[in-house]
Amino acid sequence: ARSISCVKHLAESPNLSSIPTNYIYHTDPAETEVEASIPVIDFSLLTSHNPLHKAKAIHDLDQACQDWGFFILVNHGMPEELRQGVLEAAAEFFNLPEAEKPEFEPENVLSPIRYGTSFNAATDNVFCWRDFLKVFVHPHFTSPHKPQSLRQLLPEYCERSRDVVSKLSKAISQSLGLEETEMETELELRSSLQIFVANYYPRCPNPEAAMGILPHSDHGLFTLLIQNDVGGLQIQHHQRWFNVNPPPNSILVNTGDHLEIFSNGKYKSVLHRAVVNDKTARISIAMANGPSLDAVVAPARRLVEGEGVVAAYAAMKYKDYLLEQQSGQLDGKTMLKRVR
Ligand code: SIN
Ligand code: FE2
Repeated sequence: ARSISCVKHLAESPNLSSIPTNYIYHTDPAETEVEASIPVIDFSLLTSHNPLHKAKAIHDLDQACQDWGFFILVNHGMPEELRQGVLEAAAEFFNLPEAEKPEFEPENVLSPIRYGTSFNAATDNVFCWRDFLKVFVHPHFTSPHKPQSLRQLLPEYCERSRDVVSKLSKAISQSLGLEETEMETELELRSSLQIFVANYYPRCPNPEAAMGILPHSDHGLFTLLIQNDVGGLQIQHHQRWFNVNPPPNSILVNTGDHLEIFSNGKYKSVLHRAVVNDKTARISIAMANGPSLDAVVAPARRLVEGEGVVAAYAAMKYKDYLLEQQSGQLDGKTMLKRVR
């Protein structure tokens, strides 16, 4: 017997003409949504052997992280077939017969494979119009054993992502004015937590009344995001929501709470959400990259050693932060405020 009631199943029920009331999300009617012109970062320049090119790219990265907390990564080296393949494999997972999915439901928020709906269906007041699959892929790689396409592609996708992530971590360390390896050393990134998150947002009969994922910031350092060609992601910038329509073959990157902490507030984690539509299901895949679960995270030592500089965030073990964030409700950036 199934234990969760996924929104995909609900959305596919033949007579659904409006959403159940527990999915109704009230947006502020004064809110406007605008098209964004989001910074583009060329990954090949960030890793260039030409010092001038590299310095310019690191400067642009610093600006993007400060102004937007968000950027479009191009020339990242991730093969397009792999990107498309993993999105299709994720779709196949959600398309498995309902009876085959309960085995992926977790025991707790630290279970390495978690199939679920909304954000935290046990506690959510307002439900998100999404189903998800979260898989811990580092420091210990795990994978659902089906569908076969996912089992086959996940190791390579994770390995390729990890390569991008580790180079980006070095560049971010430098953009903060630190040595290339300082961030990875202080945050124990060799055993960093990486979570593969596939999101499925079904077609919705009242898209303006529902939300795919409520406004939130990510708990980790930064997230790599890809999607099928259906829009829906919005990010907050200067109190307004911006639609993000990424160019083909790009990877979106957003800053998370632990980068805000590590940078001592220089790089704020970005608030984002996903809206839904009544035409096509949307699939996105987030690779969430954190410190090591055991790392005790505080602002980078060298960023707070100068005279008159104070650490704006207290030290906290990443694992404790994650447990608290995943056990509660999604509510903007309140988690970061609550524990500091
Ligand atoms: C997320 O914030 O985890 C998902 C965002 C998206 O679906 O674009
Ligand atoms: Fe997110």
